[in-house]
Amino acid sequence: MKRVAILISGGGSNMVKLAESMTGDHPARPVLVLSNDPKAGGLDKARTMGIPAQAVDHRRFEDRPGFETALKDQLIAASPDIICLAGFMRVLTPGFVKHWQGRMLNIHPSLLPKYRGLHTHKRAIESGDAEHGCTVHEVTAELDDGPVLGQARVPIMAKDTVQTLTARVLVQEHILYPTVLRRFAAGDRTPVFLS
Ligand code: GAR
Repeated sequence: MKRVAILISGGGSNMVKLAESMTGDHPARPVLVLSNDPKAGGLDKARTMGIPAQAVDHRRFEDRPGFETALKDQLIAASPDIICLAGFMRVLTPGFVKHWQGRMLNIHPSLLPKYRGLHTHKRAIESGDAEHGCTVHEVTAELDDGPVLGQARVPIMAKDTVQTLTARVLVQEHILYPTVLRRFAAGDRTPVFLS
């Protein structure tokens, strides 16, 4: 059984969907939820689901390497086989990423390689794109880069606001990430394309 740690920064809706999916004959189980923000709503949701959940508050550290050392200590104590970034909003240094490379996944709200970074929904609307979506990829040293493991697409409607488009993409994130994780945990890295 593969051990999965999930890193969050906020409400953790993707974390909940991932954790809920890991039951029955699924080849993985959640062993830890970590947040860089002690106020992240996802921490209590994880505890309610019986998953150990802790915060490593990045504001308590003078620099990024200090924060990452504390994060790494917590992760190593849980000995995860796979780490899922699920709305984790801190940029990780190449050294940290290298330690977990090939074992760390991220979900990003765009059809990568389009719109790396922040404000992806706004940028897609302002560019007049006809479609948008989400990507699950392996994490490498470059931000929002690395081999694509799955994508899901949604249409952009004429009346869309950032909020309506965010909600439409999130529905797909909740399907895509558990789908990719299940395949990845079973050793399948073939990309999956939904809708
Ligand atoms: C999700 O939309 C995820 O794709 C995005 O943050 C949201 C977290 O929501 N991640 C990024 O933007 C990472 N660059 P959640 O906390 O409800 O899962």
